[in-house]
Amino acid sequence: MFMYINPKMVKFPVKSDKKMKKYMVIGDPVGHSRSPGMQNAAFERAGLGRPYGIRHVVPDELPEFFEYARKNLAGVNLTVPHKQQAVLLADELTCRAERCGSVNTLLISDGRILGDSTDGIGLEEALKYCFDEELTGKRIVFCGAGGAARATAVHLAGCGCREISFINRTLNKAQELADLCRKYYPDLISCCTVPGDEKSVAELLERADFLVQATSVGLKPDDPPALAEKFFHPGMNLRIFDTIYHPTGLQKIAGKFNIPCANGKEMLIRQGAASFELWTGIKPDLEAMRAGFEEEITGRC
Ligand code: ATR
Repeated sequence: MFMYINPKMVKFPVKSDKKMKKYMVIGDPVGHSRSPGMQNAAFERAGLGRPYGIRHVVPDELPEFFEYARKNLAGVNLTVPHKQQAVLLADELTCRAERCGSVNTLLISDGRILGDSTDGIGLEEALKYCFDEELTGKRIVFCGAGGAARATAVHLAGCGCREISFINRTLNKAQELADLCRKYYPDLISCCTVPGDEKSVAELLERADFLVQATSVGLKPDDPPALAEKFFHPGMNLRIFDTIYHPTGLQKIAGKFNIPCANGKEMLIRQGAASFELWTGIKPDLEAMRAGFEEEITGRC
């Protein structure tokens, strides 16, 4: 049985636990993760020490890790490539994790593991914060239909958007995701195309309010832009949100044409903040998390 802790009932700072609760991020690879810096900054600001570590876990080790976590940890963040497999290993899922088929957060209580997905709320809050806009009635185009799009698209569909469409190299993955969104929100407009269908891509981008770049193209410094420069021009109505949090070719194009653009930093902070609140019942200090995000990567375990 999982208890939701009312933040008002939590003594501040919490010191009652005899054994300090431990948390960590796992992934493969995971060495680049900014989660320890930003989560420990939030814990420290709340008077809870620095209980958040990092561990490299390969996919074959995930079931074993769940057994370790069940006995030793209070919370976990999962990154690539564990988000889908974790759906099958958790004892229970939140409704939003079940809908998108992705888990990025574990809450462990009395030896039971609840799987949740905070990526969608992370993207929603980042879009609103970075562009100071509501999402009701908006048209969103995802570039990509892999894990990042899957974890967030259904949530955005629930934010009152009018259209969520997908441009993806593999068309059937785009169609699957569009079908998943329409399963829960039948009134949603959702079109799918491939980057090579230039007419459809241009039409989608011309009418969109937001382009969410959710492919892995741009992770390597010499990657080309996720979408070609010819699709963009000055004066577009578009805002670009690139889920990658370091400079990419797409962000460069946005700069060249004065298209408002944000990188994935705020999304990472907001999804982490939602995990923190699930674990502690406390709203974290976002400024502390933003400063922690920039910290040197330390504290491996
Ligand atoms: P995931 O496990 O999340 O699917 P991924 O294989 O890196 O991770 O793919 C993430 C997204 O980036 C997918 O939309 C993928 O396109 P496909 O669905 O066609 O595989 C996209 N992607 C990855 N490499 C790409 C490339 N070189 N060109 C275009 N899209 C690419």
